[in-house]
Amino acid sequence: MRHDHLLSAGQLTRGDIEAVLDRAADLADDPGAVGERHADRLLALCFFEPSTRTKMSFDTAMKRIGGDTVDMGSVESSSVKKGESLADTVRVIEGYADGIVLRHPSEGAAKLASQFVDVPVINAGDGAGQHPSQTLLDLYTMRERAGLDDLTVGIMGDLKYGRTVHSLASALTNFDARMHFVSPESLRLPRGVRFDLHDAGARLREHTDLDEVLEELDVLYVTRIQRERFPDENEYQQVAGEYQIDAGTLERARDDLTVMHPLPRVDEIAPDVDATDHAAYFAQAHNGVPVRMALLDELLGGDSTESDDARAASDGGDAR
Ligand code: NCD
Repeated sequence: MRHDHLLSAGQLTRGDIEAVLDRAADLADDPGAVGERHADRLLALCFFEPSTRTKMSFDTAMKRIGGDTVDMGSVESSSVKKGESLADTVRVIEGYADGIVLRHPSEGAAKLASQFVDVPVINAGDGAGQHPSQTLLDLYTMRERAGLDDLTVGIMGDLKYGRTVHSLASALTNFDARMHFVSPESLRLPRGVRFDLHDAGARLREHTDLDEVLEELDVLYVTRIQRERFPDENEYQQVAGEYQIDAGTLERARDDLTVMHPLPRVDEIAPDVDATDHAAYFAQAHNGVPVRMALLDELLGGDSTESDDARAASDGGDAR
């Protein structure tokens, strides 16, 4: 991967994705393979929205590759509360750390932040926009379970506000997957996302009923209705509780169907699915660590030859 920042899945080629997934698989087998080159590196965790998995797995990944993290803490306890702009916040933080993981409620926030700093910025969710590192672990999980060739993927739930969906669909165009989007009419993919998918040659269809496609699917990717993004609670109530699956629903699916979810789930997947062979969502969350180790290794350090050369050239003083 030859990028300074990871802002959206659209910037990733098939080659970029496969390189990160291959490296992640190697690191899952042998975490020590990364060596010592991140020993003096710090990653800033800047989460302006709640997070469990993304924040903890970046934290874990950075420590597992030998580095450490500094955490901005909650918005409530930071200077954001005093009215500081995002641009100023990240300009200060780049002086403390070698990379910034940013989650923010505004679409485009990570891109904006990247324009103010020289250290790599990883978009860990920008409003209803993108969440590309989640996509990498989603693809890693799909590759482990079903392979990435000739896939038929159903993506169900909140396709309008679900940033994991926007990133995943964009990345799946690299693999020529058949995509079936299942949602209530009011939560269809945003027009801009649909346009970009068509532009990338995506093979996609939209449905309001899972039954229309369930039997064809290799993977069913279920998402939470993003309650916090609805401008009006009544609108949320109209769709809440729709599009749930349970073990009974899956009796009509193929035996080897993989069910995924970025988590947290609310009520979209009944607990009785957890014990079936379909359930991959907890393994998916665990895959966040090796995938983010590989991503951080790449963005913070490049390959070992490159970083050794860079270190030799800068006499040990590489600012990153
Ligand atoms: C997702 C997110 O934050 O977009 N969570 C995650 O990172 N695994 C999905 C969600 O909140 O529904």
